[in-house]
Amino acid sequence: MQDRHISRRAMLIGAGATAAWAASPARALLQQVAEIPLPADVAALPGRMTVEEKAGQLTLMAAAWAGGAAVSLNPAGAAGSFDQQLADVRAGRLTGVFNGNGTAMAKAMQTAAMRQGRLKIPLLFAADIIHGFRTVFPMPLAEAASFDPELARRTARAAGTEAAAAGIDWTFAPMVDIARDQRWGRGVEGAGEDVLLGRIMADARVRGFQGTRGLAAPDAVASCAKHFAAYGAAEAGLDYNTVDVSERTLREVYFPPFEAAFAAGSPTTMASFNELSGIPATANEWLLTQVLRREWGFGGLVVSDYTGDEELIAHGFAADAREATKLAFMAGVDMSMQSGFYLKHLPTLVAAGEVPMARVDEAVRRVLALKVALGLFDDPFRRIDPRREKTQIRTRAHLDLAREAGVRSIVMLKNDGGLLPLPRAGKRIALIGPFARGQHDLIGPWNVYGTDAEAVDLLTGMQAAVADRTAITVVDGSGIDAPLPGGIQAAVAAAQAADVVVLAIGETQRMSGEAQSRTAIVVPPAQMALAEAVAATGKPVVVLLRNGRALALEGAVLAAPAILVTWFLGSQMGPAIADVLFGRESPSARLPVSFPHATGQQPYHYAHKTTGRPNPPGAPQEYKTHYQEVPNDALFPFGHGLTYGRIAYAGLETGGGTLAAGGTLTVRATVTNSGTRAADEVVQLYVQDVTASITRPVRELKAFRRVRVPAGASQVVEFTLRRSDLTFIGRDLKPIVEPGRFRLWIAPSAQAEGVAGEFTLA
Ligand code: BGC
Repeated sequence: MQDRHISRRAMLIGAGATAAWAASPARALLQQVAEIPLPADVAALPGRMTVEEKAGQLTLMAAAWAGGAAVSLNPAGAAGSFDQQLADVRAGRLTGVFNGNGTAMAKAMQTAAMRQGRLKIPLLFAADIIHGFRTVFPMPLAEAASFDPELARRTARAAGTEAAAAGIDWTFAPMVDIARDQRWGRGVEGAGEDVLLGRIMADARVRGFQGTRGLAAPDAVASCAKHFAAYGAAEAGLDYNTVDVSERTLREVYFPPFEAAFAAGSPTTMASFNELSGIPATANEWLLTQVLRREWGFGGLVVSDYTGDEELIAHGFAADAREATKLAFMAGVDMSMQSGFYLKHLPTLVAAGEVPMARVDEAVRRVLALKVALGLFDDPFRRIDPRREKTQIRTRAHLDLAREAGVRSIVMLKNDGGLLPLPRAGKRIALIGPFARGQHDLIGPWNVYGTDAEAVDLLTGMQAAVADRTAITVVDGSGIDAPLPGGIQAAVAAAQAADVVVLAIGETQRMSGEAQSRTAIVVPPAQMALAEAVAATGKPVVVLLRNGRALALEGAVLAAPAILVTWFLGSQMGPAIADVLFGRESPSARLPVSFPHATGQQPYHYAHKTTGRPNPPGAPQEYKTHYQEVPNDALFPFGHGLTYGRIAYAGLETGGGTLAAGGTLTVRATVTNSGTRAADEVVQLYVQDVTASITRPVRELKAFRRVRVPAGASQVVEFTLRRSDLTFIGRDLKPIVEPGRFRLWIAPSAQAEGVAGEFTLA
């Protein structure tokens, strides 16, 4: 077994295994799985395999374990009976399964592979561990609102540890798609609209899932950066829809989070469902081979999305299953998920000379290398340990982390008159709304293993936080989509009898996530009617929004003196909200997506271009860029979020105002908290390249820093700009930096002035 030992550097994968490794450019880091020396007996395997067995190594199916997660998620797709699946394992027709259930299942399958399989190749167990396993952390978009990559790393580490304790080797995460159209429901799985935040969160999550001890560590899971590429650019925000973007935008906006994930050591990626300017990603040779492998040097594994190869037929790109197999495989998809097409058609394609055996061997080698990297050839049962499955899941430490992450993900949009935090005693509270209580809509849309039943709801969290739980009266007031008989009257009566109303309204978790696109990103009308009636009582209202995307707020909801965005926070949703509501913690998160005035502004993102006719500040002018009904900008912009401190920005220093060739520019601002409570302020640095050979956005985030500012204190916040921070994709589609004038803001959001100045790039 000694020769199976892989050096930490060679298997790389925990990015930055050595300082030099971490410091080298992304391209050099993208060798990963390809570079892992295969032990001699593993390297010899392809020579002993039939072409059917090779196709088996390239075939991944949803687990068919009765009652298992995959079966309940995708009942139509699950592959027959578990017995049939075991037979496939023995016959070498499967490389592994995904979204299965626990160590009992994994043990049965791995035992079949290792005892009865002809070649004794260990199976690979995959799963969608998007934001937690049984302990559920805030949905990824919420966690991005923390602007705290270390938090994202820690929650991914905890999720990876739990998953690995339950037999899982490989997670289909992180989802790193930039999402600039809030109608699209899958924005919930990613880090929002901004490229820098997307890159930083991608890096943190990969490092978290994979840990620091190498992929073979029993508590590490391999990452899969998905969905490659530009899935978030679906036309009209309609999931799975056509994507038509320029190569420049791909390289500048949609690719960088993938590059960050690979640089952090993600050894796999998933081809996206969408077509990309006429060629489906799953059959896109330019994307999957030219860019990914030749240009970036990615040596890892490409897996299709769920039946992505089969869908080439519906796309109108392949005539039949055989052609779909050939197109996907030759374009660069190594492993087929769920269609079974590779198993059925690769052998005949090879026999007919239409697919070279060398390409099959290359893909098989990548699969074997991943299994080697994960330590499966050394010990196929290293993550199949019923004892760890019992003791390492939903631990106190993980649940505490879920609460901490929840607190740090809540964004306070408004707090007029300092209504928040509420006192813990002495006020009668009417808790109203369809999300006030109950085991529903707590964990968010993409969780295979966690359950709402195991999460703590809002009412329970609030009751535990107040001195006298009878001070809280709870009334549903409305259904989610439809009024409740007598609901509004009961809500109004409760509001009238209270000192303050806490109104819990918003979206269900089925209103975002996969295949959940909306044409109106609003609080549903029945709940708006409830909000209007409650506001009419004149009682102060705190709105708690539950949401999987940015919403266009209006009416009584927008007019409420206090609004908290509480997303779906997972296992500790109720306690986390109560911590912020009653002031145990100050809110500190920032919007990772802009909240628009109206749905019709979508797609909207703060880093837009000026146009040739920008409307000057103030009222709309004829023949200038503006809408008839609403302002052009965001209602609550990217980066916005209040704290319980009172923060002001002053004293910009631009370090001489010139960034010399080969040098750096240090810029500073002073952040002062004149309030009575300490606050964590997310200080943001934005830049605009005023004139360039390619038009540039009105602002781009270049750096951010979370700083703790005690009450009454000031803090100098410093950023260092390098030339490479000012790169963009030039006319020849290569990165370029152009000397000239730049505007700069150190500010609390993408729309706030903060402190503003200029500098010159020499
Ligand atoms: C989703 C992927 C997911 C896969 C497996 C697909 O429908 O697009 O994100 O990893 O299913 O569950």
